[in-house]
Amino acid sequence: MRVGVLASGSGSNLQALLDACRPPQPAEVALVACNVEGAGAVARAERARVATWHIADPADGDALLGALRAHGVELVVLAGYLKLVPATVVAAYDGRMLNIHPALLPSFGGKGMYGRRVHEAVLASGATVSGPTVHLVTAEYDRGPIVAQWPVPVLPHDTPETLRDRVLAMEHQLLPAVVLAAARAGRPLRLTADGTAFAVTAAPVVATMATGENG
Ligand code: GRF
Repeated sequence: MRVGVLASGSGSNLQALLDACRPPQPAEVALVACNVEGAGAVARAERARVATWHIADPADGDALLGALRAHGVELVVLAGYLKLVPATVVAAYDGRMLNIHPALLPSFGGKGMYGRRVHEAVLASGATVSGPTVHLVTAEYDRGPIVAQWPVPVLPHDTPETLRDRVLAMEHQLLPAVVLAAARAGRPLRLTADGTAFAVTAAPVVATMATGENG
């Protein structure tokens, strides 16, 4: 399965995908599209000799769709992509576009909830568990069906940075596991009756939680 990754930042999740999606795995990163000149994600793609494309106007759905199709992208992964994906692109990749969020959705998500703010909000809430969520992308920020989550403890003396690092380490496990599972499934992900998009049971690091509630 040809994977297109959209990124805006350092690209550590992209790196996890580049490392995991190699032969004989059924997925490969075919394109990295980035809206930030000089972002670490672009350098990582170049080092891995993966095609890159600069997103000059994040609102230009035709251009993005054209680039994804030109590279034969079948699954799109938002790995630290901070812009809203145009509705036409979301519709074209219905069930085939994933995002990773550094908290247990549906809590601590939505517009403006990214980076340090997410972990600050988790700490301020007094939650004792956080962790990454992989979900399908819909037209609204962070509201698409949840595919997989992994619990990470919040420790008494955590700062936003220590919590971020602990969650990020699990993002690097969870995201490739889901992408490889999706590639093995080889078809769009769909909602199941219990509200999860699909249950990943083959990969050891992946758990699914129906609600994402973290108390
Ligand atoms: C990650 O925490 C991801 O969950 C969020 O943005 C961050 C991206 O980090 N969406 P990186 O660019 O993959 O290092």
